[in-house]
Amino acid sequence: MDINQLKQTVSALLNPTKGILAADESSKTIQKRFDKIGLTSTPQTNLAYRSMLFTTPGVEQFLSGVILYDETIRQEIEGVSVPKYLENKGIIPGIKVDKGVVDFANFPAEKITEGLDGLRGRLEEYAQMGAKFAKWRAVITIGEEIPTQTCLEANAEVLARYAAITQNAGLVPIIEPEVIRGGSHTLEKCAQVTAQTLKAVFERINVHKVALEGLLLKTNMATAGEDNPKQATADEVAKATVDALLESVPKELPGVVFLSGGQSADMATDNLQAINNIGGPWQLSFSFARALQGEALEIWARSARGARRAGKEKNVPAAQKAFLEVTKKVSLARQGKLS
Ligand code: 13P
Repeated sequence: MDINQLKQTVSALLNPTKGILAADESSKTIQKRFDKIGLTSTPQTNLAYRSMLFTTPGVEQFLSGVILYDETIRQEIEGVSVPKYLENKGIIPGIKVDKGVVDFANFPAEKITEGLDGLRGRLEEYAQMGAKFAKWRAVITIGEEIPTQTCLEANAEVLARYAAITQNAGLVPIIEPEVIRGGSHTLEKCAQVTAQTLKAVFERINVHKVALEGLLLKTNMATAGEDNPKQATADEVAKATVDALLESVPKELPGVVFLSGGQSADMATDNLQAINNIGGPWQLSFSFARALQGEALEIWARSARGARRAGKEKNVPAAQKAFLEVTKKVSLARQGKLS
């Protein structure tokens, strides 16, 4: 493991004026996003859509990295491989390496993430293709009597093993334990579960001797559940989030990149700004999927839907304009500079 190379990647990903675009939706998830706008996901439509995002002129001012899916890392844009295309633009290519979540046996309604089998070989191939960092997502659900400590510890163990294997392969691991926003729980409950989850994760990260300086945490903000009519203000979310992190995340970790978790673009952006206004011992950046892509996808789809020329070209400039604007706003929030 070349720790200096890992540190270099971490520092580039944490560029103070940029953040990460998560564009690593699995085949199932991208179909779910396309369903809402009446499109069918195929490798071709997925590439047409993602090319629209990646070729947005100027977006490299606000993006340090992009997380790709296995299908996309093997595709081409303008005659070069997608990772090469991004690299030429000054954006670091990364790759989702988990194989998704399955039911956690004996623990109804809880999930465990699969994908450790064969991981070493997959990482070797992805590294050859140009990936410099990886992502693994664990899903933690809040409900009656859940999450259980058993589920938290099982996911933490798998996250730590993935992180160790990934560092040994020369890539920076992003560990993503996501406490899901679905439900009607309070802000306080989410903050408590987030801290409990992260404590379990960093306990195993330590036991597996993962180098903190070559690691990034991607996690949720502490928010009230999406069905709770009493939503917290941005300042309340920021305080609960930073307090939960201070309680559970080692100060030596270089950075935390937040997911948007189904918040609207405005909500996720305002919350990120408030979080950066408080600050902490780590860089506090973003790795959004839905909050960055939502509006652009909607605009792009308007012409793609049912149009004979698949409309992709027609609305590309308008979709790219929206994507650039939201990415710029989120990058300003990441600096606490949104007016
Ligand atoms: P959202 O920002 O849409 O939550 O997605 C982030 C992500 O990468 C989920 O794994």
